[in-house]
Amino acid sequence: MSKLALVTGASSGIGLAFARRLAGQGHDVVAVGRRADRLEALAAEFPDVRIRPLVADLSTDAGVDAVAAVCAGEPLTMLVNNAGVAHYMPLAELPADKARELVHVKVVAPTLLTRAAVPGMLARGEGAIVNVAGMIAFSGPAPAARLPRRAVYAGALAHLVAMSQVLHAELAGTGVRVQVLCPGVVATEFHERQGLDLSAAPRMSAEDVVTAGLRGLELGETVCTPGVEDTGLLQRVFDADLAAFGGQRVELAGRYRS
Ligand SMILES: NC(=O)c1ccc[n+]([C@@H]2O[C@H](COP(=O)([O-])OP(=O)(O)OC[C@H]3O[C@@H](n4cnc5c(N)ncnc54)[C@H](OP(=O)(O)O)[C@@H]3O)[C@@H](O)[C@H]2O)c1
Repeated sequence: MSKLALVTGASSGIGLAFARRLAGQGHDVVAVGRRADRLEALAAEFPDVRIRPLVADLSTDAGVDAVAAVCAGEPLTMLVNNAGVAHYMPLAELPADKARELVHVKVVAPTLLTRAAVPGMLARGEGAIVNVAGMIAFSGPAPAARLPRRAVYAGALAHLVAMSQVLHAELAGTGVRVQVLCPGVVATEFHERQGLDLSAAPRMSAEDVVTAGLRGLELGETVCTPGVEDTGLLQRVFDADLAAFGGQRVELAGRYRS
């Protein structure tokens, strides 16, 4: 049976690497982004599979709705929610339109595209959702001196982690797999597009991120961390999350009573 993947942000970086890898494995691909010329060039690379450019701006409701209609109406075997911007800036200086764009592209779009794709995947008894977040999702406790200017971006990635974990549990046993993919620093246009030069920093390749994501799906990983050797590290984070969640009572904690 033919396989059909929809990849957002397929015009560069990790999304382009996903689209190329999946097309190379025989998937038809719906390639979403704003830069039509890049998407057309991608389609031309793979004359033997169907790569369909879908030009949409995921920072707008109309763009999300147009892509969601494809997710709901076509038999997707894989949805890769990858498009993203970071807008690294102190929150007080972050223009409202940039904050709105970030939340729309990294929270609203993946949430609504996943919501649109899941019913069909459930009906067909198979499918995979990959939400591209990043290790910054786990950086909340870091002091500003070590890692500044990322409140909205970190929050958006944390949304993807929690949503993916909950959805994974919700869909257990249905044949629909869910993964949140959390790379560290990756060599793409991501930083350069916002005026940051990280070319001298050690960076993972987008191709390695894709290899980890696809292998992680085979391994049944819900949280896939391409650069973390010791998976016990993350398991301890999740165990601690659950311990804290389970450690609450209805009585007011003692420190608030004096
Ligand atoms: N690079 C890193 O170090 C790193 C680390 C961890 C996580 N990530 C995550 O990886 C994902 C991919 O980033 P990347 O590193 O591959 O960066 P990239 O090369 O800049 O790619 C970002 C992609 O998102 C698309 N995009 C951005 N805004 C969009 C919009 N409004 N509507 C539709 N598409 C939009 C871009 O396409 P158009 O411009 O053509 O629309 C582009 O294809 C991001 O979500 C990011 O959060 C990146």
